[in-house]
Amino acid sequence: MGTIKLIICKNENEISDLASKIIVDLVNNKKKSNLGLATGSSPIGTYKKIIEKYNNCEVCLKHVRTFNLDEYLDLKKDDFKNSYEYYMDENLFSKTDIRKKRTFFPTMLGNKPNDDYSKFEDKIKKYGKIDIQLLGLGTNGHIGFNEPGSAIDTRTRIVDLAQSTIDSNSRYFKSKEDVPKRAVSMGLGTILEAEKILLIAFGKEKAEAIKNFFTKEEFHEDLPMSSLWNHKNVYIIIDEQAASKINKDKLSNFLIENE
Ligand code: F6R
Repeated sequence: MGTIKLIICKNENEISDLASKIIVDLVNNKKKSNLGLATGSSPIGTYKKIIEKYNNCEVCLKHVRTFNLDEYLDLKKDDFKNSYEYYMDENLFSKTDIRKKRTFFPTMLGNKPNDDYSKFEDKIKKYGKIDIQLLGLGTNGHIGFNEPGSAIDTRTRIVDLAQSTIDSNSRYFKSKEDVPKRAVSMGLGTILEAEKILLIAFGKEKAEAIKNFFTKEEFHEDLPMSSLWNHKNVYIIIDEQAASKINKDKLSNFLIENE
């Protein structure tokens, strides 16, 4: 089996089912798992399904540690609700037995503010490595907030958001001016150290980036997602729309069945 495994699902619901199952299976096999988590619209369904499984006593999450990919900088003081810390509380943490003290953001270590981002990396290393890194995908091909132009060996650092990212994320803010222009993000080098990577994407807006990924077959700085060609254990779980532009003869090389 190749390094990249592509699974095409019918829709977002099927993607969320599969991604949540992979994560819950991991935690059931290793209760002190280190989960790398993403925010945005893509993982919301996955988190909902994890919450369902928690409520059905199918998983216990109290020993897991979580490491989020990124966090905004320069959010307006009264705009905490747009922080990724708030998002994670709302969409996962507060609805399960995940312990707040075991949740880590590049700008927060447990409950403590952190602006020495090497300490975030040290924290990951202290617990070994990230067992599963969940990723969404920007329409411009970013993963985390590693925008086009990011080098393959980048670490957790302050990044400037691309204009296309600011435009796309403005849907969550009162106005485009309120969207932060900077964030702290795990680097591509940080992401590639995870044991296993799950990238989830749905909708036709992601189709171009996905097509380019399969066309390149190696890392190019203009498409940060293409760094995943340098990793040995990547699952790309997408819907038919996101897969619609992939060159047909590439499909057979990477496609695996969703059992
Ligand atoms: C979020 C993150 C971003 C998003 C990407 C896709 O933590 O790192 O890379 O995954 O911008 O966002 P959605 O899912 O809203 O399309």
